[in-house]
Amino acid sequence: MNILHIDCSPRPESHSRQLSAAIVKKLLEVAPRASISRRDFAAAPVPHASPDYATTLSSPATLAAPLKGALDRSEVLIREVESADVIVIGTPMHNLTVPSVLKAWIDQILRVGRTFRSTPAGKVGMLSDRPVFVGIASGGVFAGEKANQPDFLRPYLSVVLGSIGLKTLQFFPLQATAFLAGDQARLAREKALAAIDLTVVAEVPRRATADGA
Ligand SMILES: Cc1cc2nc3c(=O)[nH]c(=O)nc-3n(C[C@H](O)[C@H](O)[C@H](O)COP(=O)(O)O)c2cc1C
Repeated sequence: MNILHIDCSPRPESHSRQLSAAIVKKLLEVAPRASISRRDFAAAPVPHASPDYATTLSSPATLAAPLKGALDRSEVLIREVESADVIVIGTPMHNLTVPSVLKAWIDQILRVGRTFRSTPAGKVGMLSDRPVFVGIASGGVFAGEKANQPDFLRPYLSVVLGSIGLKTLQFFPLQATAFLAGDQARLAREKALAAIDLTVVAEVPRRATADGA
């Protein structure tokens, strides 16, 4: 089994990094010989779409004759996704949605004719599905009865990744990090980690346990 492990927080000691690390740890308990591909978008951000990339994507004609090298970065990142059996993402909520470093990756892996087909009914994914586990840290509350802000993170990620075929997303939120302290903070963290323990084991792909990889 191959795990693609992505982190997005600008903070080295971050809540969302702890969540993604806990998910990977759990996966390794089930599949100890799994390999890990690592992307830390804070340490090594994916650059914003370049002029050549944007021009190549701008019409079917330019896509059919791409500018030299324009799709190279996108190709590397898409192949990384394709070779992952499981994708683990640790991300903070930034201004109600994903941080821009995660959006820069999304801009490279959603590519018409490569990871989705454009049809009159909308985008149709070209990748096979696989589990995507997402640990989310937020300073405030965006889910549940006490939510006091909109959530453009989970719906957005579900739609964009779903549009390339990745439809099996599981979210593990750790909320109100700005307000919880002491026992409350510990309990919230324990609750998030317990959800990870329960869900990851239940959802881990059969092939991971079948071949012991
Ligand atoms: C630029 C920026 C924007 C933020 N926007 C939000 C927001 O919209 N909603 C929210 O609940 N928290 C917001 N936060 C707070 C972070 O989500 C929170 O501190 C989180 O725990 C950070 O996760 P990390 O420890 O993994 O970096 C924001 C933080 C930053 C730096």
